Amino acid sequence: MRVAEKDQAALPSARLTKIVRPIAMPRSMTTLTALIAETLPPPVFAPPQLEAYPRLSPFLKWPGGKTQELPAIAAGAPLLTGRFIDPFVGGGSVLLAAPAFVPALVNDACRDLVELYASAASSEPAFRQAIDGMASAWDGMTDLAPFYAELAHSFASYSPAATVGALDGQAGRLDALLESAGPELATSLTGRAAHELPAKFERMRRLEVQHNQRLSPPDLLANVESAVRSSFYMSVRARYNGARLADQWGAVRSVDFLFLREFAYASMFRFNARNEFNVPYGGISYNRKSMGAKARLLFGDEMLARLVNTQFDSRDFEPFLAAAELTPDDFVFVDPPYDSDFSAYDNRPFDGADQVRLERTLARVPARVMVVIKDAPAIRALYSADRWHVSEAPKTYMWTIKSRNERSATHLTITNYPSVDSRE
Ligand SMILES: C[S@@+](CC[C@H](N)C(=O)[O-])C[C@H]1O[C@@H](n2cnc3c(N)ncnc32)[C@H](O)[C@@H]1O
Repeated sequence: MRVAEKDQAALPSARLTKIVRPIAMPRSMTTLTALIAETLPPPVFAPPQLEAYPRLSPFLKWPGGKTQELPAIAAGAPLLTGRFIDPFVGGGSVLLAAPAFVPALVNDACRDLVELYASAASSEPAFRQAIDGMASAWDGMTDLAPFYAELAHSFASYSPAATVGALDGQAGRLDALLESAGPELATSLTGRAAHELPAKFERMRRLEVQHNQRLSPPDLLANVESAVRSSFYMSVRARYNGARLADQWGAVRSVDFLFLREFAYASMFRFNARNEFNVPYGGISYNRKSMGAKARLLFGDEMLARLVNTQFDSRDFEPFLAAAELTPDDFVFVDPPYDSDFSAYDNRPFDGADQVRLERTLARVPARVMVVIKDAPAIRALYSADRWHVSEAPKTYMWTIKSRNERSATHLTITNYPSVDSRE
């Protein structure tokens, strides 16, 4: 609180001289610095802790992200006197709440995710080029308004020939636009659009008949743009699946993975029997989402500072924790997949036996541990009161995959230390 001038005058003089020592013509900056230092209280270094409202947001959408729950997680976490360790890092919401100067060691069984983090952390030129190229191609699709208008006109005038004509007429422009995202993407998009657009137009026509109503001009334009963008998305998806099946890794795959996470319908994970990712484009409401904004978030100074002070690993949590050389100063934040929901990240199940294995592993860990997990009788039975401190926190799910109608559930917070008092 500021002291008003009249109140200052009433302060005892001893106190006044301590706060504002009169400085008579200092001879040098060194003298001045010394004098100022004398008047200041000794610095207090607050030990770092998780931020309840971090300045950084996750740069990719991830089912089960914990951004909404950070205030409760931060309140229950100990001071970060050692490393921040996260064996199930996912979208990294909790990692990004740890101050950048706190060293971190994180892991996730999804290798695509970890490759993405590692590429971003190292600022590899190939990765940067690939992401900028993808951003300029996707964001550049916004400038194709005359093309969308021509396609909309072909739809409104019941002319499939005009649709094909508009596509042919724009093929060169599309190729040039998509060049930056990799030459094969342009070929793939124009090839796809030739059959996907007429099929989409058929479906739009059926809807008009069903509702006995023509699409309004803005709705028609939005649908047409969404159809073209969907072909772009499907081309990226095909390229990613090709790399996935061939077990090829690199900057392009990482950027394709980031793109698919961002633009897949409801950010879902789903795979067909051949292990191909098969979630469709998110639709009209995704048309104006910018990939460039994503790139700017990823390459911001604060994000880079956090990522470069983080070591990344990709394997099962058990060998990861065994190799982590944990000490009592480390804080291990544990957010595993749940028994019922989100059990298939990247086509990888996490079942009851894994939950048992997890508790056994955590029980041997010499560091401070916090587990956040959906409340279930089996989980309560697993984390027994003689070893663990268990408390409830209400949670509204932002992401539900299998049980879309289940909008709320209770989370358990389980620690191997007695609540926040362990901060002392
Ligand atoms: C609930 S999510 C973590 C979400 C994260 N805390 C966030 O805020 O985004 C669980 C994560 O565990 C990963 N996972 C699944 N099985 C695993 C295993 N056996 N070992 C390590 N990670 C695993 C999944 O890929 C997923 O990213």
